[in-house]
Amino acid sequence: MTSPQQTLIVDLGDRSYPIYIGSGLLQQSALLGQHITGKQVMVVTNSTIAPLYLQTVLDGLKGLKIEGFQVDSLVLEDGEKHKHLDTVNLIFDHLLRQRHNRTTTLIALGGGVIGDMTGYAAAAYQRGVNFIQMPTTLLSQVDSSVGGKTGVNHPLGKNMIGAFHQPQCVVIDTESLKTLPPRELSAGLAEVIKYGLIAQPDLFVWLEQNIEQLRQLAPQFISQAIYQSCECKARIVAADEREQGVRALLNFGHTFGHAIETEMGYGNWLHGEAVGAGMAMAADLSYRLGWLTKLDVQRIQDLLTASGLPLWGPEQMHAITYLQHMQVDKKVTDGTIRLILLQHLGEAVVTSDFGHELLQQTLQQCSDI
Ligand code: NAD
Ligand code: GLY
Repeated sequence: MTSPQQTLIVDLGDRSYPIYIGSGLLQQSALLGQHITGKQVMVVTNSTIAPLYLQTVLDGLKGLKIEGFQVDSLVLEDGEKHKHLDTVNLIFDHLLRQRHNRTTTLIALGGGVIGDMTGYAAAAYQRGVNFIQMPTTLLSQVDSSVGGKTGVNHPLGKNMIGAFHQPQCVVIDTESLKTLPPRELSAGLAEVIKYGLIAQPDLFVWLEQNIEQLRQLAPQFISQAIYQSCECKARIVAADEREQGVRALLNFGHTFGHAIETEMGYGNWLHGEAVGAGMAMAADLSYRLGWLTKLDVQRIQDLLTASGLPLWGPEQMHAITYLQHMQVDKKVTDGTIRLILLQHLGEAVVTSDFGHELLQQTLQQCSDI
């Protein structure tokens, strides 16, 4: 089944690219054909997604009828715990064994883990080759596939090794969400809520009204949530590709969240779940600063709960553990922790001006619950 497709542009001068959003797009090889310039392609996916969607994409590529076209695929193990340099090396091994040259195009078919690793491999292979994002989770469709952040985890810090490398295009097939486990859908909703909280108060209200339809995957609602999220992200990335300023706002909730992911072992808390809890913590601190009202905080907590997301971090994690991990965050400069906090619903700032005492109170509150 196909339906009209929507297109957004990430406006980055000569590195601009389209985001295609629609139902049945994994089958529309013509879209890929427009963005493949050489005669070699490698689809990178994982053992969960391969049985669901790999053949569809390979069939489409074969149908492109490019003379001398070489199409390879690589199926990696599934999971955040495999998002490290050794797995990226498996991509390099396969590219070299199959003699892929500088004109090759890598296609990332999967969630954020596959997208981040494939993008990083594309950034480094022969000093940079093209890649295409085909995101299949809600989280990757609304966030990780757009904007060119690629990379892997290090045992001491989440996403600490990486590169900025923009894709040639992003192909979002909303149909692929039908096979996504509900817990993963909730994790993706966390990033949609993030856009509402940092920059789009109307989106936040719309989410409050329509969260059930989204959890039921009602097609028009899902498409609208993806479109509005990608539009917000594309605008912010176009204004600040390398995160010198406004792009940092996209990390709302992430400093707390990354601490949870690193401490709990990659993959035990989903990225979106950790971000959900992190946003609740950032909201709590924003309230303690007198920026948000109690009602604002309640609304945020209600929406997170209605989305199936946790409100606080793991019970066994104490303030001191959060602080240790938060010191390794990429936003730390000269040893000072910087956080994204909310001045109002729909308006965020990057600040180090929150007072250690208040941060301590927020972290203690989370550990006490
Ligand atoms: P994920 O890639 O681990 O996917 C979640 C699970 O769903 C996996 O088991 C996957 O195999 C499975 N899956 C994927 N698509 C499916 C489908 N259609 N049907 C059934 N199962 C499917 O996790 P994610 O939430 O997509 O991404 C999280 C990662 O993204 C984290 O590593 C995070 O750091 C990263 N991220 C990166 C950025 C960025 O800007 N680059 C932004 C946000 C998050
Ligand atoms: N997810 C944060 C960013 O892309 O900047």
